[in-house]
Parts: sequence; structure tokens; C-alpha cells
Amino acid sequence: MDKYILGIESSCDETSCAIVKNGCEEIATVVLSQIDIHTDFGGVVPEIASRHHVKNITMVIEQTLKKANMNMTDIDAIAITYGPGLIGSLLVGLEAAKTLSYIYQKPLIPVHHIAGHIYANSLVRPLQFPLIALVVSGGHTDLIKMDSHYSFEKLGGTLDDAVGECYDKVARVLGLGYPGGPKIDKLAKQGNNTYSLPTPLNDDSYNFSYSGLKSAVINLNHKEQQRKQKIIKADLAASFQQVVIDSLIKKTKRALKNNDIHHLIIAGGVAANEGLREALTIMCEQENIDLSIPPIKFCTDNAAMIAAAGYFAYQKGRVADLALNSKSSDYLH
Ligand code: KG4
Ligand code: ZN
Repeated sequence: MDKYILGIESSCDETSCAIVKNGCEEIATVVLSQIDIHTDFGGVVPEIASRHHVKNITMVIEQTLKKANMNMTDIDAIAITYGPGLIGSLLVGLEAAKTLSYIYQKPLIPVHHIAGHIYANSLVRPLQFPLIALVVSGGHTDLIKMDSHYSFEKLGGTLDDAVGECYDKVARVLGLGYPGGPKIDKLAKQGNNTYSLPTPLNDDSYNFSYSGLKSAVINLNHKEQQRKQKIIKADLAASFQQVVIDSLIKKTKRALKNNDIHHLIIAGGVAANEGLREALTIMCEQENIDLSIPPIKFCTDNAAMIAAAGYFAYQKGRVADLALNSKSSDYLH
């Protein structure tokens, strides 16, 4: 029988609710972004984010049900991002989900935010196992191996900054504003790879490191300012993006080869990066790898991915009671 999962996501600066059928078909999604509010501060201010979630969560849930032309009695279960993320923001979504679960007597399914990003791919087509997931977001840079649904084996990850975090910091140094990823991506297209930057963690592991690259860009910018030389921002953006893409491709390719895996999915906000999407497409064509990339609206934070993951978590019997709490950090399991 068809199962309709209502998902709620509020881990950072997006208040979102969605209804997904059978873990693969988006029925309705509402995403209320706070980007314009946080832009003035150059990044997400946690307390302001929580307050806006409180203000908007009920309206976002109501709008989603209206859009789907459904009511709570049509819903089979509620999936909620319990973590990781900003604790105040997470708690707002969690309390809303618990309240709905209690009032309407619906199962409550806890979903790890990164499981959500991975299952955004299920909204495009069924996941094929075994697969490697390259997770690239504001908080994560991970290579995950999956042999079946809801089984996550971390092969490697960043040792310091996440790739999205690095994009945002570099953008701030270049005066491009927040969020930096899309701005650098756009600017990189207008520039050339002329600046020499260090290759991050060029070793045989599946790990990444972006703090050295970030420092190199900051130092270069500083030196040029001292020498009264003008930085060509588009060229620096292109050079930075190339180094990032090369490092992601290299480790992903190794993970696929060493594990003899032919399915790759990408996930997370940085998966919206056009340069990365192009480079991965070329690599996968060359290596005969089946590649799945979610549409941009499912790459950045949204509740459809949480509802999709929630369906598969529910099938594995992952149901929580009302004692469920938010976790600002937690490993993917
Ligand atoms: O997955 P996400 O929406 O939130 C987290 O779970 O962190 O990812 C947000 C990150 C930000 O760092 C943002 O700058 C980055 O994704 N991002 C991009 C692009 N669009 C969003 N990075 C590079 N290129 C993009 N086009
Ligand atoms: Zn995210």
C-alpha cells in the first residue's frame, strides 16, 4: 500500500515541510529560506534562525498540506531531521513534528540530515546498490559506501573544514557575500585558472582537508593587498574552484575503483555547483560509472529529502517515541 510521509527540516536557515509518496515521488514541498535575513550578517546567526523557524513552522506545514490537497489523516508517518545542525533550529522542527505525531497518533521517524541529502537522489530514480555517495555540504565532505538501503559505511571525510564552509569563507574574503558557494561558482565561469594554490591532502586516503586551501586564498589576498596589487576575483574563483573539484574527483574516483563500484550519487548543497556537476559527469563517462545528481532544488536543504529518507528508515523499523531529542552533532547511521 502507498505510504505518504510528511517530512520536516529546520536544521539551519531553511524552514521546510514536504510530503513524499513511497520514498520517491514528491507530492508537495515548501521551503522558506532565510538567506536574505542572514546575508546582512555574512553568515547564519543561530538565534535569529531559531526565531524565524518558530515564526514560520506552522505556516510552512499548513501550506504544504494545502499544496498537496491533503490533511494530516492522509499522512502515514512524520519524518524529522533530529540532527546534526544548529540546536535551536533543530528543536523547533522537532517540537512541531512531535506535536503532530502526538495529536494525530502518527509514527515519528528520526532522520539524520545527511541521510536526507543522500536520499534526495531517490526522488530522481531508485538508488542502485552498491553505491558511493559523495556528500558535499556546508557541514560535511564525506565519501559513504552503501550496500543496501539505510546502511552507511563512511570511507573518509574532511579532517577539518567542510567544502561548503570553505566556499563560504573564501567568498567572504573576496567580498562576495553569503552564501558564497553559488557566487564563486558563477564568478569562476568568467575567470581563468591562473593562481597557483596548494593541492589539498594529496594522499592515498579517502579523506579531505580544506583549511590549508582556505588559508592559502586568505594569505594570497592579503599579500596582494599589501603590494597594492588588485586581485582578479574571477581568476581567483576559477583557480580555487578547480583545486576543489580536482580533489573531490580524485578521491571519489579512487573510492569507486578500489571498491569496484559503478554507481555514484552526489548529495548536499555543494552538489549544486555547476563546475563540479560537469566535472563529475565527464569523469563518470570516462570511467563507465552510472552517475545520479539531484536537481538543484533537492541539493540544498529541503524537507522532501527528509521525507524520502524517512520512508526507507521507516521500512527498517526506525521509529522514535516522544522522548526523541535533537542532536547538534551525530555520526551517520
Ligand atoms: O546542504 P546545504 O544546503 O546545508 C548544509 O547541510 O550544510 O549546503 C549549504 C552549502 C553552503 O556552504 C553553500 O555555500 C554551498 O552549500 N553551496 C554551493 C553552491 N550552492 C550551495 N557551493 C558551491 N557551489 C554552489 N553552486
Ligand atoms: Zn544540508
